[in-house]
Amino acid sequence: MSGPIRHFIDLWALDGATLRALLDEARRRKLARAGWTKGRVDDDAPAAGRTLAMIFQKNSTRTRFSFDAAIRQLGGDSVIATAADMQLGRGETIEDTAKVLSRMVDAVMIRANSHADVEAFAAASGAPVINGLTDRSHPCQILADLLTYEEHRGPVAGRTLAWLGDGNNVCSSFIHAAAPFGFTLNIAAPAAYPPDAADLERAAAAGARIRVTRDPREAAAGADAVITDTWVSMGDKDEAARIAALTPYRVDAALMALAHKDALFFHDLPAHRGDEVAAEVIDGLQSVVWDEAENRIHAQKAVLAWCFGAAPRT
Ligand code: CP
Ligand code: NVA
Repeated sequence: MSGPIRHFIDLWALDGATLRALLDEARRRKLARAGWTKGRVDDDAPAAGRTLAMIFQKNSTRTRFSFDAAIRQLGGDSVIATAADMQLGRGETIEDTAKVLSRMVDAVMIRANSHADVEAFAAASGAPVINGLTDRSHPCQILADLLTYEEHRGPVAGRTLAWLGDGNNVCSSFIHAAAPFGFTLNIAAPAAYPPDAADLERAAAAGARIRVTRDPREAAAGADAVITDTWVSMGDKDEAARIAALTPYRVDAALMALAHKDALFFHDLPAHRGDEVAAEVIDGLQSVVWDEAENRIHAQKAVLAWCFGAAPRT
């Protein structure tokens, strides 16, 4: 492939048409393999002869297994390590690690403690780098979530999504997605755990419609989707303070009843029933959390194919 290396670090580094094409490609590939076994390779095998390295500085279930399934369904292979297994865990620099790995594999997915480390990795890497979650964002998750919304309810443009709870990394990626995908985002978060101010400012400059409130009922009212996440993200130390501040944001049946009658419930998982979400909601009829988890595979296949230079279909 000629041209700049196609890193996938944050959604707003890609233009709206490319992001739209990624979602459409994900859907197309998913539909084309309906009924197939999970290990069968797509007919065009766009990653044949390519290897994806995955590095984890934090725990993962969905990101690890969905990227592994994704690269294999595209006809490629994977190698996985935790940072603790690598010399990275003994002080080798991010930059040296990036230079070495990109001589050995065709792309790197990294889940890192620090967003700056992913940016430094990408700057030094000769191969595409994909953000598999940092303290600041989780772009792959939001692509999977939007794919899920559209499978159930059609185009997300013009709809209203409500984020309730911690203004965290996953919330930031929804902020990044609001302008290019054309949805309205209502965010309800406590004063102590607000959404990122710089993200909100940049999204507003890009034309995003985002409303921020402290009141979870106001954010949920009439929404087409209600979304939450853990109150204590990986690396957060102030668990007791978080639980105290975030308890009013628990998504229960009463809160869901304020949303549109066809509203869907989203959670990126892992979930904590009785904390950020009541069991009756996450295990109820409006919940699409298992589709979200599966769609990590399909969304990431589109991302990987794009990183490998496949032209997005617009
Ligand atoms: N949603 C998500 O990224 O899950 P994991 O932490 O299990 O990868
Ligand atoms: N906000 C959570 C997401 C986990 C997938 C965390 O960063 O731990």
